[in-house]
Amino acid sequence: MNAVTQETLTDANLNTSSDCVAFVTDNQTFGVVQMVSEQYFEAPAIRDGSTKEVMEHIAHASSPRAVIVDLSDVSEPLTDVLTLSSALGDSTCLIAIGTVNDINLYRDMMEAGVSDYLVKPVTEKSLAMAFEHMHTPEPEQNQAKPERTQRVVVVGARGGVGSSAVAVTLAWLLAEEQQRRTALVDLDLEFGTVALSLDLEPTHGLREALENPSRLDSLFISSAIAKVNDRLSVLATEETMTGDVEFNPSAIEILFDTLARNNDSIIIDLPRAAVGFRHRVLKAATHVVLVTDLTLASLRDAIRILSMIDESAPNTPVTVVANRAGRKDDAMSKGDFQKTLGRKVDHVVAEDRRALKQAADSGKPLPVSAKSSKVVGTVREIAKKLSPGKGAPNKANGKTSGLTGWMKRGKKE
Ligand SMILES: Nc1ncnc2c1ncn2[C@@H]1O[C@H](COP(=O)(O)OP(=O)(O)OP(=O)(O)O)[C@@H](O)[C@H]1O
Ligand SMILES: [Mg+2]
Repeated sequence: MNAVTQETLTDANLNTSSDCVAFVTDNQTFGVVQMVSEQYFEAPAIRDGSTKEVMEHIAHASSPRAVIVDLSDVSEPLTDVLTLSSALGDSTCLIAIGTVNDINLYRDMMEAGVSDYLVKPVTEKSLAMAFEHMHTPEPEQNQAKPERTQRVVVVGARGGVGSSAVAVTLAWLLAEEQQRRTALVDLDLEFGTVALSLDLEPTHGLREALENPSRLDSLFISSAIAKVNDRLSVLATEETMTGDVEFNPSAIEILFDTLARNNDSIIIDLPRAAVGFRHRVLKAATHVVLVTDLTLASLRDAIRILSMIDESAPNTPVTVVANRAGRKDDAMSKGDFQKTLGRKVDHVVAEDRRALKQAADSGKPLPVSAKSSKVVGTVREIAKKLSPGKGAPNKANGKTSGLTGWMKRGKKE
């Protein structure tokens, strides 16, 4: 593949406010993109480059209407497309160019958010059609858009307030009663309890995925995920306590985008101390559930976490859940708590030690092990609010094997 020559580069005149920005890797593509884009855009900017150059460009420029990226020399084109479509947002159309002529790749690219994928040699006709497609919305685009995969981040105000218990129960109810394909992700890589509470073998792909997102594709996800049943899958790990996980900054969005391709809901159990990536996780959320208890220490930390959420995701709806209510060590009433918190507590979940113990002993989620517990009733209200009008309760069907299963595996780790 010839690189675009210096002469054409000088002509390219990369305009940071251009409506159409293209980064290509050879002269033939350059010529076609230049000729066709000039018919559709005021001052298209065409230059030598690929994903890295697009990312650098959008860091300094307003969002163009169209971005064309040449992925011919990229080893994992799908990963690049996921990164780019997350970074560009919904208002920019992404057209990818590549050398691989494969229908499965084309489908994956379209699912990952490209408006079109053109195989080299790019012709004037194929690029014009890609522009036409982008300018003339399909009829269904004028109708209601299908619901975007919801990404619900569950975070606790303090350790032990019950955020993982709420996350697991919520995920189970969304999957079983709201009939949503749901992925439950435990981002507490060292001390997470999600796999344990569902009596699942922790999987070992999550850390690698967060360190090396270029491995993140559907195939990798399916090997790293544990299936609880047809609709609920879990991504949870038990890492050694080395503490020095080197996250790639874009891994969070790529992970969520990859999971979004096969799920209606993603529930993320976020440890509040995850300083390295909590901002990104909150930014990617469509909804945040803040779990607290009614103690003074939790009140202080709930205030701090609400302001952190406000900074990271100012427009994302937040549901505040006061869990374990009714214990002797509650410092204050819901009313007093709300007054100091400066906002409403949306749901109060009762303390129910017996039910939680039953769940822990059986390795089954609360809606299976203690279905009449008030805890389940309240979390069900949250699940219904998250998916109004969806599904009806059906018979929960726990496939997990209980504490005995975990013991049989030798209480390893
Ligand atoms: N409503 C409840 N009633 C009684 N016990 C509860 C309730 N919710 C959670 N618990 C119990 O509280 C303990 C902590 O719960 P959980 O692990 O979900 O908290 P967490 O906020 O995720 O903690 P961590 O900060 O360690 O991640 C567990 O023993 C759990 O069974
Ligand atoms: Mg937890």
